[in-house]
Amino acid sequence: MMMSSSTHLIFSLLLISAAATLCPVHATDHIVGANRGWNPGFNYTLWANNHTFYVGDLISFRYQKNQYNVFEVNQTGYDNCTTEGAVGNWSSGKDFIPLNAAKRYYFICGNGQCYSGMKVSVLVHPLPPPPSSSIAHLNPLSDSAAPVVLQQRGFGVLIVSFAISWLGSGWMWC
Ligand SMILES: *[C@@H]1O[C@H](CO)[C@@H](O)[C@H](O)[C@H]1NC(C)=O
Ligand SMILES: *[C@@H]1O[C@H](CO)[C@@H](O)[C@H](O)[C@H]1NC(C)=O
Ligand SMILES: *[C@@H]1O[C@H](CO)[C@@H](O)[C@H](O)[C@H]1NC(C)=O
Ligand SMILES: *[C@@H]1O[C@H](CO)[C@@H](O)[C@H](O)[C@H]1NC(C)=O
Ligand SMILES: *[C@@H]1O[C@H](CO)[C@@H](O)[C@H](O)[C@H]1NC(C)=O
Repeated sequence: MMMSSSTHLIFSLLLISAAATLCPVHATDHIVGANRGWNPGFNYTLWANNHTFYVGDLISFRYQKNQYNVFEVNQTGYDNCTTEGAVGNWSSGKDFIPLNAAKRYYFICGNGQCYSGMKVSVLVHPLPPPPSSSIAHLNPLSDSAAPVVLQQRGFGVLIVSFAISWLGSGWMWC
């Protein structure tokens, strides 16, 4: 069972194009404080105001391990620098936290440095609808390539499973 190389090429182009279309919004890793990291004496409100957060993005905290940490708290904990009832805590020094819900998140440092500014609140937005222009963008390729692929009826199952594995790995690039 071998696909001809031209079918393979057309098919690969189709999949790359489809994968690009399916990933119009890239999951972004928002590094808190950018190159300043997670440290006292920084206004993280200014940092957060300069970023737009979407569901599926990551927020990551980079700091000296054992010196600082990260607690996810509620608004009371954020306002008052308390970790009582914290939702989660991290202390690896390089913590990647997925922002999986469209809501406001609150993070503070739990060792007292919250009072020195180590607190950040981010509002996570729902994913915007995919831009319709990306569908039109796919059409020129699929109009010419799809019939060629579909003629290879014997390869139908192979192509579908190939597509699933390709798209599966494709998500890793998003
Ligand atoms: C950070 O900057 C914002 C906007 O200028 C300001 O409202 C806030 O008071 C500042 N926070 C601190 C802790 O200085
Ligand atoms: C906002 O982001 C831009 C582009 O990344 C950067 O040049 C600027 O310094 C940032 N401003 C603040 C307050 O972080
Ligand atoms: C937060 O702290 C303020 C001032 O310290 C206090 O008045 C308030 O009751 C605290 N809120 C909660 C929910 O603990
Ligand atoms: C935050 O959690 C604390 C402890 O569980 C609770 O007493 C407080 O009412 C909560 N605050 C909010 C705004 O939900
Ligand atoms: C930190 O989180 C772990 C669970 O991941 C929990 O067992 C532990 O009590 C938390 N620590 C604090 C200080 O809240």
